Amino acid sequence: MNTRIDFLEKRINEELGKVLVNEEPRSLFDPPVYVFSLGGKRIRPILTLMVADLFEKDIEDAINPALAIEIFHNFSLLHDDLMDKANLRRGSETVHKKWSANTAILSGDAMVIEAYKYISKVPHRYLPELLEVFSDTAMDICIGQQLDMDFEQRMDVTEDEYLNMIRLKTAVLIGCSLKLGAIVSDASAEDINALYQFGINLGLAFQLKDDLLDVFGDFKTFGKKPGGDILSNKKTYLLIKALKSSNEKQKAELDKWLTAEVFDPEHKINAVKNIYEELKLSDLVENLIEKYYLASLEYLSSISVSDARKNSLLNLSEQLMYREK
Ligand code: IPE
Ligand code: IPE
Ligand code: MG
Ligand code: MG
Ligand code: MG
Repeated sequence: MNTRIDFLEKRINEELGKVLVNEEPRSLFDPPVYVFSLGGKRIRPILTLMVADLFEKDIEDAINPALAIEIFHNFSLLHDDLMDKANLRRGSETVHKKWSANTAILSGDAMVIEAYKYISKVPHRYLPELLEVFSDTAMDICIGQQLDMDFEQRMDVTEDEYLNMIRLKTAVLIGCSLKLGAIVSDASAEDINALYQFGINLGLAFQLKDDLLDVFGDFKTFGKKPGGDILSNKKTYLLIKALKSSNEKQKAELDKWLTAEVFDPEHKINAVKNIYEELKLSDLVENLIEKYYLASLEYLSSISVSDARKNSLLNLSEQLMYREK
């Protein structure tokens, strides 16, 4: 059923396998090659290529923007892992652990530049628009990442502030992946916008699921160490809801862990996770994921091509909702 998805993933990996493999010095370029080699779901570039399919275009016309998106995404992971003090990603050591913080910073910067070089390979008529969309997205992600960090220090983050933050740090790149594919496929302004909104809603659901897996996921499948968000007091939807709906005892317990300076990490993770479980917050998050998933499907159905052509996008979004990694 998913042979097209597998084919697109293979095509991306084939091209990604050629990125920065020959440049010197290797101390700058081995980290991106390493992080690409660890795999990852490749959902963003797959989405870009799927949009070319959607409009019956040659996927090769969308391959460079697709690669730019995946290279940029991997850059964001290098810096994000440094900022989040995460030691594991895709089941392996993160770049700042394997090399150093300086390496994660500079190799990450080099990856952003490489991403722009791939954007600039598109036919000239598309370039101004692609550059604008890509740069606006990149700036939104910086803003989202800063909000994510600022929220660690705050106790009064609202649900709306959280949703805005995840829209910026995560959803816009998924929207951008689809939008770039639509632009180089000469889609109408209406279809470009509908695909972008499809991506934004899918992206919100995607980050909510990521936050859920960060607490309840299995390391072997998820590839990241569970509990990282709890340890750094990330204001996830789970924590925001827990702070709002906890009884006095639970509230006191949460406050204790959120302000504790010295603690056993596993003890904190288990204590906070227990409160989430007592309050049945997974169900609440699952419902919200479903809400955004259904909203994304509305946008998909509004696009002016036959339903049959939308099947791959539909299958991929469904897979993402039920993912464990
Ligand atoms: C991780 O993205 C960062 C988030 C936005 C949650 P992915 O879950 O797509 O990571 P890979 O590329 O599959 O490793
Ligand atoms: C992802 O946020 C946002 C970006 C990487 C830009 P997370 O911090 O939740 O991502 P993971 O869980 O480390 O992949
Ligand atoms: Mg992180
Ligand atoms: Mg982060
Ligand atoms: Mg996460």
